[in-house]
Amino acid sequence: MPIKEISAESVRDKSIRHGHISTLHLWWARRPLPVCRAIVFASLVPDPLDENCPEAFKYAVEMLLNTELGKLHYKPYKDIPYTSIVDEMEDNHRNRLMMFIGKFSEKCQDNMKAGKSTPPKEQLDDWSLIKWENKNNPKILRIARELIFMAYQSDKRPDATWEELHAEFDKLYAAIPKAENALYELKDRHIETDKVKQLETDLQAAIDAFQKEMPSVFDPFAGGGAIPLEAARLGCRSYGNDINPVAHIIERGSAEFPQKYGKPIVYSKEEFEKLYCEEGIKMAQEDERGITFDGKYYHIPNRLAFDVEFYAKKILAETEKEVGYLYPADEKGNKPIAYYWARTAKCSNPACGAEVPLLKQFYLANSSKKRVYFNPIIKGTTIFFEIRDGKCDHLQGWNNRGNLFCPCCGSLTSVNEVKRQFKKTGIPQRMIAVIYESKDGKSYRIPTQQELDVKVPNVENKPSDRMAVENNRNFNTPGWGIDNYGDMFSNRQLLLLITLIKQFHSLRGTFEENEYAKVLVTYLAIWIDRIALTNTSLGRWDNTCQKYQHPFNRQAIPMTFDYPEINPFSSSTGSANNMLEWVLRYIEDESVTPFSSSFANASSGERGQFDIKSLTAVVTDPPYYDAIAYADISDFFYVWLKRTLGEVFPLNFSTPQTPKAEECTALKHHHHDSENEANAHFENKLTQIFDAIERQTSDMVSIMFAHQSTKAWTTLCNSILDARMNITGSWPMDTELTNRSISLSGAALESSVTVACRPSERKGYADFDEVKHDIRQLVKSEVEKLYGLGFRGADLLTACFGQAVSVFGHYKLVETAEGDPVSVGQLLEFARESAAQALLEGVPGEPQTKFYCGWLQMNGMGECAFDDVNKYTRVGVNVEIRQLQSDRLLITEGSQQHLATAEEHLGSNETWGTQATDYMISQVHRMMMAYRMGNQVQLLKLVRDLCPQSDAPQWRVLDFLGGHLPEGKDLNDVKGILASAEMLRQKCKDAIQHQEGSLDFGE
Ligand SMILES: C[S@@+](CC[C@H](N)C(=O)[O-])C[C@H]1O[C@@H](n2cnc3c(N)ncnc32)[C@H](O)[C@@H]1O
Ligand SMILES: [Zn+2]
Repeated sequence: MPIKEISAESVRDKSIRHGHISTLHLWWARRPLPVCRAIVFASLVPDPLDENCPEAFKYAVEMLLNTELGKLHYKPYKDIPYTSIVDEMEDNHRNRLMMFIGKFSEKCQDNMKAGKSTPPKEQLDDWSLIKWENKNNPKILRIARELIFMAYQSDKRPDATWEELHAEFDKLYAAIPKAENALYELKDRHIETDKVKQLETDLQAAIDAFQKEMPSVFDPFAGGGAIPLEAARLGCRSYGNDINPVAHIIERGSAEFPQKYGKPIVYSKEEFEKLYCEEGIKMAQEDERGITFDGKYYHIPNRLAFDVEFYAKKILAETEKEVGYLYPADEKGNKPIAYYWARTAKCSNPACGAEVPLLKQFYLANSSKKRVYFNPIIKGTTIFFEIRDGKCDHLQGWNNRGNLFCPCCGSLTSVNEVKRQFKKTGIPQRMIAVIYESKDGKSYRIPTQQELDVKVPNVENKPSDRMAVENNRNFNTPGWGIDNYGDMFSNRQLLLLITLIKQFHSLRGTFEENEYAKVLVTYLAIWIDRIALTNTSLGRWDNTCQKYQHPFNRQAIPMTFDYPEINPFSSSTGSANNMLEWVLRYIEDESVTPFSSSFANASSGERGQFDIKSLTAVVTDPPYYDAIAYADISDFFYVWLKRTLGEVFPLNFSTPQTPKAEECTALKHHHHDSENEANAHFENKLTQIFDAIERQTSDMVSIMFAHQSTKAWTTLCNSILDARMNITGSWPMDTELTNRSISLSGAALESSVTVACRPSERKGYADFDEVKHDIRQLVKSEVEKLYGLGFRGADLLTACFGQAVSVFGHYKLVETAEGDPVSVGQLLEFARESAAQALLEGVPGEPQTKFYCGWLQMNGMGECAFDDVNKYTRVGVNVEIRQLQSDRLLITEGSQQHLATAEEHLGSNETWGTQATDYMISQVHRMMMAYRMGNQVQLLKLVRDLCPQSDAPQWRVLDFLGGHLPEGKDLNDVKGILASAEMLRQKCKDAIQHQEGSLDFGE
């Protein structure tokens, strides 16, 4: 796998917005599309250098990737840009296939070699399969689909030649656009005539005939639908399950409906005018939709997008007629973007009793370009505000973790008292500002009397669905009295949502009852979900970017004390029209291909769902223990979707809330508050699901996994092995944004690992000692390889687990010399140790540094009994204990001793670790302390003097520490330095180049 290239595009994927799957509807823990596309593709094609690779497939690679254009574009690197030595990649079929998946552009290759960065968009070559811009590229997709077809067919029919298969592919593939054109060019195809039905059947038959000859791919944990979306894009029969009805609706909206219904339509003038009247004609005349009218016919490029827009705007207009007066425009007719509210509590000092807004800080805008804040004016026990430009250093927040500091009398009202007030009398709130759009961007003012006087009528049918209050990790608001979903909204917000839904239903009543109408209303419901998300009283105003932020940033519902209430009828960010834009863009972007996925809203693991060995591959991304409470938090959307789509999809919305019991997670509160019971449930469920998959899949099961703990891996591997599968390969990939600036609070890079599994062949019994030998070898070469690719720390160690388990999985049972079975837990511990050992071998430097790393690996930072000699003999370095003590690397207290932290080691000494001749561990500790103190100048100086090159040994020591230190300050420092390592080195290089001799890091 070209893991560097996939990582680069996946990191970029996180910042892509326009038309991206993540913008249709919020879902948790989405996988980046480039990883999904690459893994699906790679799971379906053989390695051309493998001796069992069918000839026809090798020939296909030759023809498609090594002739004409392919010759140029998929040529392997002359010099791999991310290795330090000159490294020519052999021009063979395997490497060409990798370059097809992803290849760095010429420009990026040059920059990498020169140590310069390249804008994310220009990193990958324009011909890479996984590049964002290529998701609808007919040339590239055709190559990918044909390669997959060849792999699948040549495996089934080893005697077929490339020519035969190529001709077959051509015929089946070309039949689809032909049938599409016949149907989509037909005038007034919205009227169900026999002719229309015939052409629809023909098209479906053409698609089926092609896909029957393509492999099938299944994702049992489909979530937001990224994996099925990519499997379908590659032409496969694509299936996905999710137990969660909200996920199910999102999946269909993402990977089924646009591909089926987002197609062109031609209306006669009469029909068009009958259907859409004046508003429709006006919409058709506006340029941006690409609609043409030739005097007789309207040509609409995307029927679904047009209808969603048309009907959403209708609903919105009707809603505005009813409730628009609650959002008055100013005297110039401008509509505000948002109203800013603060919840208030009463000061508990009986002599005061001021009603105090619970503000934690006072900025409305706080960036280097613009600062605006609330300036309080206090008269007795009355608090007013004015809005001022500039800095407000002098003001301390009045709310510290819910404790109220009264600005009128100075007394403290405890958080418990504030909670008691909220629960007893409800939560009072006060509008304190209005946000509007001006020629200078967002502007802020005090509310007008008219705005303050708006009286919201009583709201009927307020949702009273209960939150998962027992889940106090993800639900923070119940303690404050917000414990059902209706409470997450102010009255005006509720009235808006309920009116939208009323209008939604009155419109729905006018639709015919057919599949297309269901699809249409699904998007209208998704749009209303988006509006609900931007209209809660638990959102935040991001004062750095000056925009609205929904409450779910941390996969949880946090309490907020001040919030912006978006005006749905403005045309700015967060408005209903803006929400609609996102939905339309997604539909338009994903309507191009004819291949859609099929989804089941079911708990996976049903042995009967697919026939035995009928699936070619499974590609999936399972949940992990209690990391995300999918069902609990998605009830937020379920509440609204049940109201909009409950009658449209009655089976999916038959339960009062999202189904919880069968979810494959380990949440205590769903299991009698027992952690053991919850864990057992998760592990059993995962094994049951893998077991069914093993029965149903013939080729390959690829599992993406983003967790680093041994426990996570033990569970995953146990489930895989218990389901009779074996791991045959594993690949780490970066998927998170790294910290690109040189900020000294650096966030660490995060990677996920994909493991490939196959039904296992077990050889019988084995002795652990022999197996250990194999594991050590494998892990060592893997460590070297991945280290060379830039993987570090814990990411690097976990990436080796897959290799270790693959050795282990060859046997029915592995036993120790005493005849005891070896568990996966023991195995992984051994793998981790082997990986660390392999890294340690590369730990450079004098015995003291080696000792430090070795001890850390064996004993961690905890206390050890002094005479536990064993502990350091295993480290295998020859140093005097007394020397270590006087060097303050080992701290001894009585009979106990522990390894020194950076702070303990350096103490008040100011020179240790600053010279190239000092112990390497001292140098590294010095860098850590400089980082911790925010002393960027010193840090840069250390990097320049000690380790300006990426292969300098200090970096290796840092990597080692990163993989072994326990949570804490030292680890934070190491992570922070590593996250900005490239930047630090670059800065040194720039400084050296720009100001020869006199180094100035711009203090
Ligand atoms: C890590 S997420 C998948 C995210 C997805 N790959 C994406 O990119 O959006 C795991 C999913 O598994 C689903 N899930 C949990 N238990 C399940 C079960 N028993 N059967 C089917 N799906 C389940 C959850 O609802 C969640 O959507
Ligand atoms: Zn007071």
